[in-house]
Amino acid sequence: MFSFNDILQKIEQEIAQLQFTYPPKSLYEPIEYTLALGGKRIRPALTLMACNLYNEEIEAAIKPALGLEVFHNFTLLHDDLMDEADKRRNKPTVHKVWNANTAILSGDAMLIAAYQLIGETQPESLKEILNLFTITALEICGGQQYDMEFESRSDVTEEEYIEMIRLKTAVLLACALKMGAIVAHAPQADADALYQFGINIGLAFQLQDDLLDVYGDPATFGKNIGGDILCNKKTFMLINAFRLASEQQKEILNQWINQETFNPAEKITAVTSIYNELHLKELSEKKIQDYYDQAMKNLASLSIPKERLNILKEVCERLMNRQS
Ligand code: IPE
Ligand code: IPE
Ligand code: MG
Ligand code: MG
Ligand code: MG
Repeated sequence: MFSFNDILQKIEQEIAQLQFTYPPKSLYEPIEYTLALGGKRIRPALTLMACNLYNEEIEAAIKPALGLEVFHNFTLLHDDLMDEADKRRNKPTVHKVWNANTAILSGDAMLIAAYQLIGETQPESLKEILNLFTITALEICGGQQYDMEFESRSDVTEEEYIEMIRLKTAVLLACALKMGAIVAHAPQADADALYQFGINIGLAFQLQDDLLDVYGDPATFGKNIGGDILCNKKTFMLINAFRLASEQQKEILNQWINQETFNPAEKITAVTSIYNELHLKELSEKKIQDYYDQAMKNLASLSIPKERLNILKEVCERLMNRQS
């Protein structure tokens, strides 16, 4: 079996070799800028690791894995524009270095490049892989639409939030794992269990992302802290803040949420104080642990020897304790 480091190294090598054909430079430079900034590469790593559970020959998983990473980076270009985020991976975002139109069009080109890479999957798996990818990509658009609509709603339930993050984040991790299983010709029940594992890990992953958005260390997180608070994102913490708040705390929250002009640092401090008073960090951590436990149950149902799961388990554990 390949170690996680082998897998990451392989992914970096392959990404460095991706060619984006000039001209125009102005379209492709932002793509190279984004892909060169790194990131955790967790999605392509999951594809290769899932394939490697069944097969020592992981070459067949490389093209779809790369396609998913390019696709993921495309979603970030558009997401940063939609979220008005100025920083990612400790660098200014594409719409800041260039402009909004560039983030849109370079993002579009990345989506197309992602399809091209996925289209290079071995012919016997291609139809299933393309179907899965297309459904997943549409689900992500749906999740992103809910995410935006929820910003201006005040009645979003925890259930709706979980469905929104399932769509915007979890399905891509699930898809990454299932793609690895498909190209390795794993049994259908295993491919489905890996998908479900990806959903649970993905829900935990987005809950963790929302937690780090408030409590992370800006140096390691690479994004500006408090971005979700500033745009009234209906996160697990904000939804539960309203549920648990006293009348006075509710009034303070409502004031900040409805205020059109404000000092950003003041808003972040005020909302974070309420989160602290209501112990929402701990409540989030518990929810993350619940999904993580579910994910481990999904893994336990796979048909392969338990020791083959060690690398995947270690990676997930590290992911749950991540700072970036
Ligand atoms: C960021 O994904 C978007 C979310 C779904 C939270 P990652 O945290 O995987 O971003 P990178 O690729 O490692 O930068
Ligand atoms: C991102 O969610 C989900 C997608 C990009 C599809 P977030 O908006 O929370 O991701 P970050 O925090 O900007 O990475
Ligand atoms: Mg964002
Ligand atoms: Mg977003
Ligand atoms: Mg986030």
